[in-house]
Amino acid sequence: MAGPVVAGKSDHWGSRFGFIMAAVGSSVGLGNMWRFPYIAGEMGGSAFILVYLGCILLFGLPVLMAEYALGRYGQRSSIASIRKIVTEEKKPIAWVGMGWLGAIASLLLFSFYIVISAWVFDFIPQAFMGDFSGFDAAASGANFDDTTGNKLEIFAYMAGFLALNVIIVARGVHGGIEKAAEILMPAFFIMLLGMVAFAVFTGDAAATVEFLLTPDFSKMGFETFMAAVGQAFFSLSVGSCVMFTYGAYLTRDTNIPKNAGLVASADTFVALIAGFAIFPIVFAFGLNPAEGPGLFFVTMPVAFGQLPGIVGGVFFTLALFAAFTSSISLLETGVSWLEDQKSIGRLKGALGLGVIMLCMGAGYIWAPEFIDHASFLSGDVMLPLGGVLIGIFAGWVVPKRILASELGEGMHLEIVLVLLRFVVPVAISIILVMGMINKFS
Ligand code: PHE
Repeated sequence: MAGPVVAGKSDHWGSRFGFIMAAVGSSVGLGNMWRFPYIAGEMGGSAFILVYLGCILLFGLPVLMAEYALGRYGQRSSIASIRKIVTEEKKPIAWVGMGWLGAIASLLLFSFYIVISAWVFDFIPQAFMGDFSGFDAAASGANFDDTTGNKLEIFAYMAGFLALNVIIVARGVHGGIEKAAEILMPAFFIMLLGMVAFAVFTGDAAATVEFLLTPDFSKMGFETFMAAVGQAFFSLSVGSCVMFTYGAYLTRDTNIPKNAGLVASADTFVALIAGFAIFPIVFAFGLNPAEGPGLFFVTMPVAFGQLPGIVGGVFFTLALFAAFTSSISLLETGVSWLEDQKSIGRLKGALGLGVIMLCMGAGYIWAPEFIDHASFLSGDVMLPLGGVLIGIFAGWVVPKRILASELGEGMHLEIVLVLLRFVVPVAISIILVMGMINKFS
């Protein structure tokens, strides 16, 4: 079982299944259910999804492998692993800054992640009580506005969710999370599949297929590319060195390329089926696909309103759990950073960051328009930037023998190296610069 996350530890994942579920637990979260459908909706659907799949394959997967590999090699939290590598190999110590950037990005992500999680939390009792019964799109939209408008209530849910995060991270991501993930993540998958079946049968499946699967390339610009890269990194949990820490728990006999492929496939699968659970309802009820951050929270209740309350209640509970297994990996990155940098204990670090996050979260609750900005800055700018740095670091700074020892020799290593050395840094830099110019001009 995974013990407390401390530097240089000898604990490892209890089993391959346990690791996969914890890694999938970090990847699969609000990024798949909430962020992917709304960004895809805003970006016009199909063409975005095609670009997104390309980004997962060409950028996300190699960076994920690099993070696992360097984490397992370093056997420490991200910053300590980077420091170990640059010290041993006599490379510039400035590379440690990459770990800082990751920690700051993680905390920025975490600061609004807890607010969206609070919305999910608030929906659990609503669903169980059958409040969604008979909802059409207008009623559901009004309910979402009421829910997020009830600021004190959302604040209370956010504080509760945050407290759970602080407790678990302060104690170390112990066996509890790995164990719980083993049971709850599969349950979540099954529920989501059930929702797809329901949405496809009762909603407008034809319009969904058209929207999600028939590419309209005229809608594509650098902004589409930028959003797709950002979403790919956000969804896979890469670019902020979170996966370094998870990699440190990997046993030597775990095949990294194979497992990274599995995590990426599961994550992509969940994002796509979330789209298929949401868009049939969007089209059947004449909702706007570009509705924005409220999309998930307006469409799902319409479907649950036609089912016994327990179905929606269980679904939002599992969704909250998926969010939780992601959010702890974000907070963990900040706490281990403090631990390494300033020798601040886990409890102190988690509590201190918790207070700062509580204040930032309150800021978003009272001024929700900042959620979109924070999501853009952390997800679409900082994570891809982190990806560029990890690509350069793993491809050019770290000696090839280290990657070879973690990923194994062979054709796949050469491909991953080409992607890390050239494709990731060059393509993402161009996309970032052009995307910014387009967005702000
Ligand atoms: N991947 C998580 C999700 O999809 C969010 C996350 C991003 C977690 C980055 C860790 C690091 O919800």
